[in-house]
Order: sequence, then C-alpha cells, then structure tokens
Amino acid sequence: MEKIIITIDGWSSCGKSTLAKQLAKELHFVYIDSGAMYRAITLYFLRHHVDWEDVNAVDAALKDIKLEFATNHKNGQTEMWLNGENVEYVIRDLVIAEKVSEVAAVKDVRTFAVARQQEMGKHKGIVMDGRDIGTTVFPNAELKIFMTADEDVRVRRRFKELYEKNPNVTLEEVKANLAHRDYIDSHREVSPLRQAEDAIVLDNSHLTMKEQLEIAKKWARERM
Ligand code: CDP
Repeated sequence: MEKIIITIDGWSSCGKSTLAKQLAKELHFVYIDSGAMYRAITLYFLRHHVDWEDVNAVDAALKDIKLEFATNHKNGQTEMWLNGENVEYVIRDLVIAEKVSEVAAVKDVRTFAVARQQEMGKHKGIVMDGRDIGTTVFPNAELKIFMTADEDVRVRRRFKELYEKNPNVTLEEVKANLAHRDYIDSHREVSPLRQAEDAIVLDNSHLTMKEQLEIAKKWARERM
C-alpha cells in the first residue's frame, strides 16, 4: 500500500493526538505532534526571558533552539526533546498552555516550526496533528481530518489529564485556557486554525476510541 500524509487539525483538546497516535501505530506511520514543538519553543522563551514581541530577540533565540522527536523504547511513544533535554512532561503544564498560543502566533516562530515539519514529511508515511497542518504545512496531503468535539467534553477530558498530574488544577482554569487558545489560534494573522476545504470532519463527542479509529482507518485505506 502507498505511503501517504495524514493531517489532523482542530480545536484544543478534542483528541487529535490520541487519534493520530492510534492511526500511526495501525498503519506503521510516523506520528508527529506539531503542538509539542510550539510548546517546547514556549518553554525555551519562558526560561530564557525572551520577549516574543521583539523580532530580533525571537530570531536570535530560534538560532539556539534544536528540536527533536525521539521514541521512548519503554512505552513506544514519541517524545519531544529540546536542546538535548527530554521536555515531553514539562511542556504539558498549564503554565506553558497559558502562553503557547501567543508564541505560536509569532510569524518567525511559525516559519521555523513549519520548515521542520515539512522536512519530517518528505518521505510521507506520516500522521501529523496541529492547527494548520492541512492548510499550510501539507496542503497536498492525501487525507485531511478536521476534528471537533463538544466544548464540555473537551474541557472534561483535558481536566482529567491535568488533574492526574496536579490535583490543584481547577475545571474553570482549564475551560478558560481552552477558550483563550481557541480564540487566539483561530484569529491570528499567520496560518489561523481553520478547516481546509478538502478536510473531512470527525466529531468524536460521542465516539469511543475504537470507533473513531475504525472511521479514520477506513478513510486512510481508501486513499492508500
Ligand atoms: O493538545 P492541545 O490541543 O491542547 O494543543 P497542542 O496540540 O499541544 O498545541 C498547543 C498550541 O500550539 C495550540 O493551542 C496552538 O496555539 C499551537 N499550535 C499551532 O499554532 N499550530 C500547530 N500546528 C500546532 C499547535
């Protein structure tokens, strides 16, 4: 079967990465979490007090950032590394989530990340999730999925995830963060979040993980 590019875009916390991981495993494709790259850049900017409204400061900082994905052989998951440090756990924190959409709206940050994402898709056989993958990163992808889920479902899912790591987190902060990011992501000037014309919508509010995989797998097989 032919190797293709599968893109999964959509709102914050609607299960894009869960589906992308399932599909990649099933099809023996590479999974790339583009959001992890924006989160890692945000972590670097916060740690080094980089003012992301200052173009020169951003450009200088980006020269010092090396992003890599590596497989953790204990659990088979792909993890994000920043300048030789495994940052997979720390980038999921709400502190990062509170700033990431501002950082991801900066033009030179996007140029930097998109170039790396396109490089990773050169040989196809890839599933990438994000906000602009089907519109900007791989406009010619063979399968584009636009994921969505009801707001309260998304809030509850992300709250559960964060609560397991930090019981001080509240449902209200998680709800506010998702709404804040979705607003910035869909209103920014460069590559805003929007559904590609040729994307298929997958609403997983009432689907189990197994059901969503079956649907997406069928779409993928039709295109391979
Ligand atoms: O997992 P979740 O849906 O919460 O978000 P994520 O995929 O980890 O992405 C974090 C943030 O990075 C998003 O809210 C966007 O601001 C930004 N992002 C982006 O601008 N473009 C992408 N292709 C992926 C993420």
